[in-house]
Amino acid sequence: MVDLTGRTALVTGGSRGIGRAIALALAQRGANVAINFFRNRSAAQETVDAIEAHGVKGRAYRANVAHEEQLHKLFDEFKQDFDRLDVLISNAASGVLKPALELTRRHWEWTMDINAATLLHLVQHAFPLMQDGGKVVAISSLGSVRAINNYAAVGASKAALESLVRHLAVELAPENINVNILSAGTVDTDALKHFPNREEILQGSREKTPAGRLVTPDEVADSALFLVSDYARMIHGQTLVVDGGYSIVA
Ligand SMILES: NC(=O)c1ccc[n+]([C@@H]2O[C@H](COP(=O)([O-])OP(=O)(O)OC[C@H]3O[C@@H](n4cnc5c(N)ncnc54)[C@H](OP(=O)(O)O)[C@@H]3O)[C@@H](O)[C@H]2O)c1
Repeated sequence: MVDLTGRTALVTGGSRGIGRAIALALAQRGANVAINFFRNRSAAQETVDAIEAHGVKGRAYRANVAHEEQLHKLFDEFKQDFDRLDVLISNAASGVLKPALELTRRHWEWTMDINAATLLHLVQHAFPLMQDGGKVVAISSLGSVRAINNYAAVGASKAALESLVRHLAVELAPENINVNILSAGTVDTDALKHFPNREEILQGSREKTPAGRLVTPDEVADSALFLVSDYARMIHGQTLVVDGGYSIVA
């Protein structure tokens, strides 16, 4: 049983989908949980209410995590509400879904910026607040190491994210901070609605997954709990793949 009583967590993009499931799992184990959102305030408030139903403190901060000034403001607000940070989940992501031949430099820079550079800035803000050590988990996807239709920019940004995690892990291990990657297979969240080939992705993933079904947000959250727990204290800079076996099938 993972006990996070007295710890404080921040989950970017914690209002919906995988981020929400992780935020609620952390709250259920006793952590106070701050979430970040961008556009949908009512979903964020509903998630804060669900966090607080576990008897812990919940907060939501609006910020586009790709925007440096908004990130700064997010941490200013966080510091008014909390005096420590133990767990940072870098989950919010975005990006342009198009074939590689249709990508412009602007598409590329936006996608790399929000999915890779954001972790750097998040950790730079979080580090001074992790006075007793901490856990950082970046959410990635199989597109970092595999070619997926329309996923060239996002896949490359996730590969950059994973490399950044390894470098951060080495710098922060002496500070008692674990930085790791949680890479999920297909999860049926709202994010999939942005894919022109959503149905094909869902069906293909179901058919090819040895476990016989898609991974759920709660199952990703269970793995996040492991990575932020003391059971994972000597795991640094690794990628934990949660995909029902999808990626090991030839
Ligand atoms: N779904 C999958 O199949 C899958 C598979 C592997 C990995 N992942 C990864 O899992 C993570 C979460 O994906 P999801 O499927 O759960 O997405 P989702 O259901 O679409 O939720 C996205 C969350 O991120 C927030 N968000 C979006 N843009 C933001 C921005 N610029 N700044 C701050 N917050 C922002 C949203 O808030 P608002 O609603 O307020 O905008 C929402 O809370 C991503 O890193 C994704 O790459 C997903």
